[in-house]
Amino acid sequence: MSEPLYGANRNSARRITVKDLAAAKVAGDRWPMITAYDALTAGVFDDAGIPVMLVGDSAAMVVYGYDSTIPITVDDLIPLTRAVVRGSRRAMVVADLPFGSYQQGPAQALATATRFMKEAGAHAVKLEGGERVLPQIEALVAAGIPVMGHLGLTPQSVHAMGGYRVQGRGEAGQTLLRDAKSLQAAGAFAVVLEVVPHELGDAVTRSLAIPTIGIGAGATTDAQVLVWQDLAGLTPGKPAKFVKQYADLRGYLGDAVKSWADEVVAGTYPDGEHQYS
Ligand code: KIV
Repeated sequence: MSEPLYGANRNSARRITVKDLAAAKVAGDRWPMITAYDALTAGVFDDAGIPVMLVGDSAAMVVYGYDSTIPITVDDLIPLTRAVVRGSRRAMVVADLPFGSYQQGPAQALATATRFMKEAGAHAVKLEGGERVLPQIEALVAAGIPVMGHLGLTPQSVHAMGGYRVQGRGEAGQTLLRDAKSLQAAGAFAVVLEVVPHELGDAVTRSLAIPTIGIGAGATTDAQVLVWQDLAGLTPGKPAKFVKQYADLRGYLGDAVKSWADEVVAGTYPDGEHQYS
């Protein structure tokens, strides 16, 4: 595929692959990745031409209502992944490996990733961490499973990091850069950079031959990702600094439901147009 990932090929009948993402890096084309957790919204994002969807473990918070990503399980995420695969036809669907499903070592990582590929139809998996997960990445790549890395603010390590804070400042930036190169050497096809200084996002992007996907990592990463409920204004509360809200879905949906409920109470819904004779 030589045209840009986002836009020109929206109606392409085949799925985006890791080869397309590699070609986009060479061509200097930027692309969007979005989270998705169900078939209906996956269809909306697919129709919008989004080339990559992530069934993130952020589902723990935005779908299941937990206050961190730590409690979510493989069994929680597999049905969501299956729904996103079913609801899309063009996007590459990446499944997040949840906390506790790969940290034990390569054998555990392979067993978990195999479930996502076989039971949910995922096209790739993502896992968090640098040097400590290299054996896992190598094992998955050797088994033919495309792997996306994730560095910087890695929410599964929130307790070790002492909260959701900017990562990679000062000396830690050099460690992150080394980790990014190691992930690439281990065979990762892309790496997410979460909440790091934009200078570091830029340096990593220029140092790697694989695409970087930024979330709070500045404007020069090869791709950007956001949790869809954040960008659409559905998530309650003050958004993180890197989130730009492109809609007020919470307000819009609330208004729609209130209008319907008011009409139910007033007896004006259903009216003649919305009933059978
Ligand atoms: O789980 C998730 O949604 C993620 C993205 C924010 C990168 O990991």
